[in-house]
Amino acid sequence: MDTPLQNRTAIVTGAAKGIGAGIATALAAAGARVVVNYRSDTTGADRVVKQITAAGGTALAVAADVRRRDDVAVLFAAARKAFGPVDILVNNAAVYAFGPLTAITEDDYREQIDTNLWGTLLTMQALAAQDDLGEASIINLSTAGTASHPLYSALYVATKSAVNSATLIAAKELAPRGIRVNAIAPSVSDTDGTRAMGFIGSPMADAAIADIPLGRLGTPDDYGPVAVFLASPAARWVTGDILFASGGQR
Ligand SMILES: NC(=O)c1ccc[n+]([C@@H]2O[C@H](COP(=O)([O-])OP(=O)(O)OC[C@H]3O[C@@H](n4cnc5c(N)ncnc54)[C@H](OP(=O)(O)O)[C@@H]3O)[C@@H](O)[C@H]2O)c1
Repeated sequence: MDTPLQNRTAIVTGAAKGIGAGIATALAAAGARVVVNYRSDTTGADRVVKQITAAGGTALAVAADVRRRDDVAVLFAAARKAFGPVDILVNNAAVYAFGPLTAITEDDYREQIDTNLWGTLLTMQALAAQDDLGEASIINLSTAGTASHPLYSALYVATKSAVNSATLIAAKELAPRGIRVNAIAPSVSDTDGTRAMGFIGSPMADAAIADIPLGRLGTPDDYGPVAVFLASPAARWVTGDILFASGGQR
């Protein structure tokens, strides 16, 4: 088996389900020791850890709310204690909701901006604060919606456009330390989150598929290999990039 991430330590936020679980599993299969972060879904996180260890990998579940600096400190401390310096960080945790511009509330705004942008900034800070770090890779989850600007997504896509900007700027600031920062921009995908909101099987999902040149929704398994590539030495010359893994959707 090809294990380009041997002896590396990864944190994947929001990895109890969906795309985060797919990425955590793929990083572990590529040899990384993986911290499966979750906020509330202990059962899902334990399931992902079991799946990884059953396949011969190394993983640990750690609860932390990425919106809280103290929680992020606990997350990094647990990862470092178990596995050493964290040199792969995947910022996957996010919340999304869709609706007309006129219906967006301040609570919606706080929840999405705090999780999607502030959570990403806090964890990037925590990775960079490690003074014993060698080369490292940060991967932020964006969305193809930052290019296609779909209806009813003004708040969510704006938070991810902010993540794109933070990614490009962090890539410049952290490059002198050998820390690469990139983003993956997924298409609309079949995940626990999109199922829970009733999207899968709805007319909106049909419209989304029609807008994806490769003709289907993404799945959590589609993103793991992309994350492995960005984390691995094969991507040593790639930083400050927004990689559209979206079946051609833009
Ligand atoms: N699915 C899509 O169509 C799609 C398209 C483009 C981009 N994306 C992006 O891809 C990523 C994953 O999407 P998904 O659909 O797989 O999501 P999902 O199924 O809704 O899962 C999201 C995960 O994020 C975690 N989370 C939420 N708030 C958190 C917080 N404050 N602290 C820690 N964890 C938190 C949740 O944890 P708990 O369950 O433990 O509470 C959950 O496990 C997101 O960044 C999303 O924006 C998704």
